[in-house]
Amino acid sequence: MSEDKPTVLIIDDEALVLRASARVLKRQGYEVLTADGGQIGLEVASTHQPHVALVDLQMPGMHGTEVVARMREVSPYTECVVVTGHGTVNDAEKVLKLGASDYFEKPISDWARFHQVIRQAIRIRGLKRENAVLRTDGFDNLIGNSSPMRKLKETIRNFAPHDVPMLITGESGTGKERVARAIHDASGVADGPFVAVNCGAIPDNLVESQLFGAVRGAFTGANRETTGFFGAAAGGTLFLDEIGELPLSSQPKLLRVLQEREFTQIGGTRPRRMTARILAATHQDLPKRIRNGEFREDLYHRLRVLYVDVPPLRERRDDIPHLTYFFVQKLAAKLKKKVVGIDDDVRVALTNAPWQNNVRDLENTLYRAMILCDSDRLQLKHFSGLDESPAGPSPTSTGPEEAATPDWFAAAMDMDWAGAKAEVELQFGRAYCIARLKQTGWNITRAAEMSGMQRPNFKRLVKRLNIEKPDDIKG
Ligand SMILES: Nc1ncnc2c1ncn2[C@@H]1O[C@H](COP(=O)(O)OP(=O)(O)OP(=O)(O)O)[C@@H](O)[C@H]1O
Ligand SMILES: [Mg+2]
Repeated sequence: MSEDKPTVLIIDDEALVLRASARVLKRQGYEVLTADGGQIGLEVASTHQPHVALVDLQMPGMHGTEVVARMREVSPYTECVVVTGHGTVNDAEKVLKLGASDYFEKPISDWARFHQVIRQAIRIRGLKRENAVLRTDGFDNLIGNSSPMRKLKETIRNFAPHDVPMLITGESGTGKERVARAIHDASGVADGPFVAVNCGAIPDNLVESQLFGAVRGAFTGANRETTGFFGAAAGGTLFLDEIGELPLSSQPKLLRVLQEREFTQIGGTRPRRMTARILAATHQDLPKRIRNGEFREDLYHRLRVLYVDVPPLRERRDDIPHLTYFFVQKLAAKLKKKVVGIDDDVRVALTNAPWQNNVRDLENTLYRAMILCDSDRLQLKHFSGLDESPAGPSPTSTGPEEAATPDWFAAAMDMDWAGAKAEVELQFGRAYCIARLKQTGWNITRAAEMSGMQRPNFKRLVKRLNIEKPDDIKG
């Protein structure tokens, strides 16, 4: 298997289908392998480790469901796409639960979607492989493999073991809190608590009692002893989020705690040792706040012994497909939706969007789209204000002739004459027989008669074309 040419393995017991899809895929530049049964398919997969396996469901011997279930053992990074006979979509849905990435029905008539599904499966495989590599780096929840993210992770790895304060900067929504957690997880205090405090959300007059705690009766309303955030984070990490919002009047007290590594509850007499690791974050320009007299310079330097800057999403667009995949999976589970695909134009639009509020924007956009999604694919119509490309639609895209050309014709132009003819015959055969059978209420004798064929011949044709009687037709 060469890495530059994606390999597709087609597992189908029908020679006609094998030949037709193999031809289409070869034309598109794929390396194609074929297997005419489940068992042999798994053997080929284990020796060739293909990118994608197109698995037929109805096969004598090993059923497609079993092939999909066992694929992971023999070739963990092969994405299975299931091909089902007409009317067996419920089966296909079961197979998706086993880990197939998508499915479509035979006969394949929408070739544009066929290619899109294959491309998407190859992409998913790539992302899964990369994510698996990233998992081993210990940053399971910090998605991203762009060059800036790799640098960031390297910095975190180097800094995390050192118990000195660290300042995390970056625009709103870039993932500063995620980074703080990653630092905590990679530090020597990962088993201890991670306590996050939003410094901007505490009323000015309560900051100190919230941070340091208070003894009973320390002030009006303090009718019981409180621990405070420093106490709660003992042996772990205290994450001071939005540190730029900390009132000026409380800043000297925080500075003293950082210097002396001791804090005293309000009204208390005995100082306690500060054993929490301190992380702080802000999206604000602290040097500017210092110049404006809103933030103390000495505190700034104390907090910024080590520092990391989380880059905006627009500077690491390579992370967008990874993040999208991560959020879609997470949201699909949360919303109990089965979304298996993302249209190509959506992917392009997501990669090019400005993302003013960075990763949070992307997550919220996908959240809305997933709620609105009424099929198993995310389409442009599920997004508002997301344009395909900043340049706008291509002016050459749909001329009148092109719009009038049926899908099968475009697909046929990918094949040589014999292949195209076989494919069109296959499509036509199915359409014709299904129409006849519907016309006669699935009466084979009558349908054969109307087609000018012998009953046994018509019956064989129906079987060869993999046409099955829908459940809603009785008898
Ligand atoms: N690399 C990432 N991997 C996975 N999820 C991420 C990543 N970066 C951000 N997120 C998610 O995006 C959202 C915003 O991230 P986060 O809250 O950490 O941003 P922030 O930088 O703290 O923003 P703000 O300055 O507005 O507080 C969160 O839901 C977070 O889980
Ligand atoms: Mg935050």
